[in-house]
Amino acid sequence: MSGVVYYAAMSLDGYIAEADDTIEWLTGFEAVPPADGVETVEGGYDEFYEGIGALVTGSVTYEWVLGHIQRGGSWPYAGKPCWVLSSRELPQPDGGEVKVVNASVTDLYDEMIAAAGERRLWVLGGGNVASQFADAGLLGQVCVTIVPVVLGTGKPLFAHRLPGPPMRLTAALPRPSGMIELRYQVVT
Ligand SMILES: NC(=O)c1ccc[n+]([C@@H]2O[C@H](COP(=O)([O-])OP(=O)(O)OC[C@H]3O[C@@H](n4cnc5c(N)ncnc54)[C@H](OP(=O)(O)O)[C@@H]3O)[C@@H](O)[C@H]2O)c1
Repeated sequence: MSGVVYYAAMSLDGYIAEADDTIEWLTGFEAVPPADGVETVEGGYDEFYEGIGALVTGSVTYEWVLGHIQRGGSWPYAGKPCWVLSSRELPQPDGGEVKVVNASVTDLYDEMIAAAGERRLWVLGGGNVASQFADAGLLGQVCVTIVPVVLGTGKPLFAHRLPGPPMRLTAALPRPSGMIELRYQVVT
């Protein structure tokens, strides 16, 4: 399936990161199995990632990933081209196919979709970049995994109110961890 998907994890109150860009609430989340009677569905990230051909991200998210690498990780998207939107010069990761560009998502769209081929373009985030795709009418799907914690403040899933009608729910997938993935088709 081709197209553009924004796939992210969000706190119950709508944030993808704390105000200082930390995400320990996500990386350190310990499963809380759902109550009896809630039917859960296995799956999640690996299955999603298999269907991705290319990625695009904002510089704040990219710098978080680079920081993670410096703490002993490796570039997590090896083999898939990744566009990083920035007005600044940024370092390249070892083993990554990264293009740092200062351009609009509209101007980059054809190139990124061509690179994704038969697979999808993943808008990795954050809310700033996802909002640019939505504003330009280029976002096809939003897949958000709700993590059952409340942060009170932080970086939102989208940076501002989006144009267009409400999105259409296509799947609700409760996970054994106590998270739930919601899939929405963007309606234009
Ligand atoms: N929970 C999750 O699943 C998840 C997913 C993704 C991200 N996150 C978190 O979300 C936070 C970042 O989100 P964010 O919305 O604040 O930032 P972001 O979208 O990652 O980055 C925004 C920055 O990218 C650059 N940029 C964006 N569009 C551009 C364009 N068209 N041309 C040139 N430069 C452009 C600008 O910075 P410069 O020009 O100054 O470089 C802009 O300030 C991070 O904490 C990250 O860890 C969480």
